[in-house]
Amino acid sequence: MCGIVGAIAQRNIVKILIEGLRRLEYRGYDSSGLAVINDKKNLIRFREIGQVHILAKEVEKHNIVSNVGIAHTRWATHGKPSKKNAHPHISEYIAVVHNGIIENYQELREQLKKQQYIFNSETDTEVIAHLIHSEFKEGYTLIEVVKLIIPKLKGAYGIVIMDRRTPDLLVAVRYGSPLIIGLGIGENFLASDQLALLHVTHHFIYLNEGDIAEITCKKVNIVDKQGINVERKPIKVDIQYNFDNKGIYNHYMQKEIHEQPLAIKNTLHGRFDQNNNVIFTELDKKAQNILSKVEHIQIIACGTSYNAGMVARYWFESLAIISCDVEIASEYRYRKPIRRKNSLLLTICQSGETADTLAALRLSKNLNYLASLAICNVLGSSLIRESDFSLMTKAGIEISVASTKAFTTQLTVLLLLVAYLIRLQNKNILFERNIVKALYNLPFHIENIFLQEKNIKSLAKDFSSINNVLFIGRGDQFPIAVEGALKLKEISYIHAEAYPAGELKHGPLALVDTNMPVIIIAPNNKLLEKLKSNIEEIHTRGGLIYIFTDKNAGFINSKNMKIIVLPNIEEFTAPIFYIVPLQLLSYYIALIKGTNIDQPRNLAKSVTVE
Ligand code: AGP
Repeated sequence: MCGIVGAIAQRNIVKILIEGLRRLEYRGYDSSGLAVINDKKNLIRFREIGQVHILAKEVEKHNIVSNVGIAHTRWATHGKPSKKNAHPHISEYIAVVHNGIIENYQELREQLKKQQYIFNSETDTEVIAHLIHSEFKEGYTLIEVVKLIIPKLKGAYGIVIMDRRTPDLLVAVRYGSPLIIGLGIGENFLASDQLALLHVTHHFIYLNEGDIAEITCKKVNIVDKQGINVERKPIKVDIQYNFDNKGIYNHYMQKEIHEQPLAIKNTLHGRFDQNNNVIFTELDKKAQNILSKVEHIQIIACGTSYNAGMVARYWFESLAIISCDVEIASEYRYRKPIRRKNSLLLTICQSGETADTLAALRLSKNLNYLASLAICNVLGSSLIRESDFSLMTKAGIEISVASTKAFTTQLTVLLLLVAYLIRLQNKNILFERNIVKALYNLPFHIENIFLQEKNIKSLAKDFSSINNVLFIGRGDQFPIAVEGALKLKEISYIHAEAYPAGELKHGPLALVDTNMPVIIIAPNNKLLEKLKSNIEEIHTRGGLIYIFTDKNAGFINSKNMKIIVLPNIEEFTAPIFYIVPLQLLSYYIALIKGTNIDQPRNLAKSVTVE
């Protein structure tokens, strides 16, 4: 959600902080701010509403030179997006940036008010600054005071604290929200995401839950939640990413849609042996042994990743003959779920930092699953570190808040896993052979969709003044309808709902009239004839029909009906294929509507709070 950057160095860190914020902007973009201690030991703060470039412009005017500072880009939780609610928050000599939520902030606020503290914001963060200030007594160090206040904070948080009186030091705490330390030579950094620091280092320490870190230019000291000094091994991260380079594209989303054939190829790379059997080098003998016994799979995820899980349920059950349930993490974590016999917990998460998915994973540790397996796009993320095993998607960095290539690479890994389980558990090898073949062909088929991009772009004009859209599909295309509707809502702000086509007459058909567009995903598969009957029901009621289909499905144009004929595709990979034209359609509709496509209102890339 919010983004945090901190730096302590022997050079001027102002530009480092600003560049870090710019790289984190996709995580939250309501407002941003920074605080530094200058050479005269003054604490200086800048805060602005809106995007980071507005803050950067303001900071630039003042020619600040500083060796230590903290910065923040905000996604509002407590208190509306405004200058006074933007971080850092200050209590005299203490400055704090915070990611997460302090649940008992009202109570703390009241207590602090009684001690004559004056609150200048509506945020939960300001209590942290005042609380630290209030605990300082003669001779106390910053770290001692931080240790004192931690038991008083309820909730999930990552915080970085700076004290004007000790400008050679930053203190960071990780409790539920990710924080990493970037290691330099004679300089060190902090951030909520490694991407924020790739311009200054590729060496990182990932803090564990409950860690408190003291960072100077030359040293990093970490104590764990038991208060014991610990060494955390630095990891070298080899990611290269040019944040200024959208290439020939206008938006990251457009670029990422077009990167899908390559992202899928990368995800497949190294995952077949010389006999074209699926291999996962990440899974050791122990993991293989566990997977060979799995009789049930419980999938947990949020948003687009949940939709990938919904597709996978069809695959696990019909191809690998393994029963499967899929649940939204925020629901699962507050139920009393009953674990089925010989069950695997499978989490799916692009960022590896989604708070609800992580909480569900932690909860599952008491439920005696055979193991937890994560499918994730970010190496070193909390999800990967806390799961028993993990399989990486190789989508590359996804910047656009609307997920595209993460989804199709998640589905690619899931289908690989289905093939892997079929072989491991001696199920129908013909399915496995056909899955492998279909996956090989998939990037090429997706390339062909882009030949139709102009048609999809012109179709988008039909939706420029529409307020509601229905998406329908059947079988494993139903979750694709759900994902298509999510994309449209997210970036064009058009209300969109998805239904299994057979469910229409149980209610939603009442919505269909001559103003209601219905987008239908209709490849030629065994459910096509059933789907055609549902289409007829919409047609007779005057609904505006848009059918995404293939040559063999045999649709004939008629009034109020537009047919988008796509290349034929193997049945197994059809869900991965059919989301691409829907992503393009949403993109072009949003383009016409003039919304902020890469950073849609009210959203953030990685949801690290509940
Ligand atoms: C997708 O377009 C969304 N922005 C969102 O639903 C996202 O998929 C969800 O927040 C889950 O994220 P994760 O995969 O990082 O857990």
